Amino acid sequence: MIEWLDCVHSTNLYLKNLIKEGKISPCAVAARQQISGRGRMDRKFVSPVGGLYISFLLPWDDTFKITAKAAVAARRAIKKLSGLDCSIKWVNDLYYENKKVCGILAEGIGNRIVLGIGINWASNEKDLVDSAGSLKQNIGSIENLALELENQIYGPLENWLEEYKASCFLNGHEVDVFQAGKYVYSGMVRGVDDNCHLVLEQNGTQMVISTGEVSVRIK
Ligand code: BTN
Repeated sequence: MIEWLDCVHSTNLYLKNLIKEGKISPCAVAARQQISGRGRMDRKFVSPVGGLYISFLLPWDDTFKITAKAAVAARRAIKKLSGLDCSIKWVNDLYYENKKVCGILAEGIGNRIVLGIGINWASNEKDLVDSAGSLKQNIGSIENLALELENQIYGPLENWLEEYKASCFLNGHEVDVFQAGKYVYSGMVRGVDDNCHLVLEQNGTQMVISTGEVSVRIK
């Protein structure tokens, strides 16, 4: 069951507060707007009306794997409702036409995970930051998108790893890797391995990246 809110500070924070108060139902909270939506590294996630902001309660699992699976779940839900194919930018973003249209944040609380997903569905692009885009299509309500997302998240999500690998937006790109906000190295992306870690090649040597962020190098 999804609890709907018109406006909230952050659906992740709202659900975490419910858990702290001992109220573990509903399993999902969605909002039409967030005042202080948050992303990885405590960055702001701009959340105007038109988008879907939703958090799910899940049993404990590796947050890295949950994030990767959620990216596939969001990709499938978007595809089903809009027909649009998004690519996945390792590790937690969906891109459409070179702009970020979805962000994912998995946070551990006790022996559970709060998984937050924000989708710029029918958002007005002037309300978003420059690097973000909106799916724009007038093809379905955010309520239906939320229900489809819920089905994907709690369903079997078959062949998710194959889809995660095949949809990797970074394949074949030169990237810079940052860890704890500092540049560490650059390399050519060769794909994603079975642990959802990024495989880079630098001077003929392959290395595996399991933390940090990457940005595509402008040629
Ligand atoms: C990122 O871009 O780094 C992740 C963004 C995650 C945004 C979603 S929207 C629903 C949930 N509530 C939040 O405050 N954040 C997540």
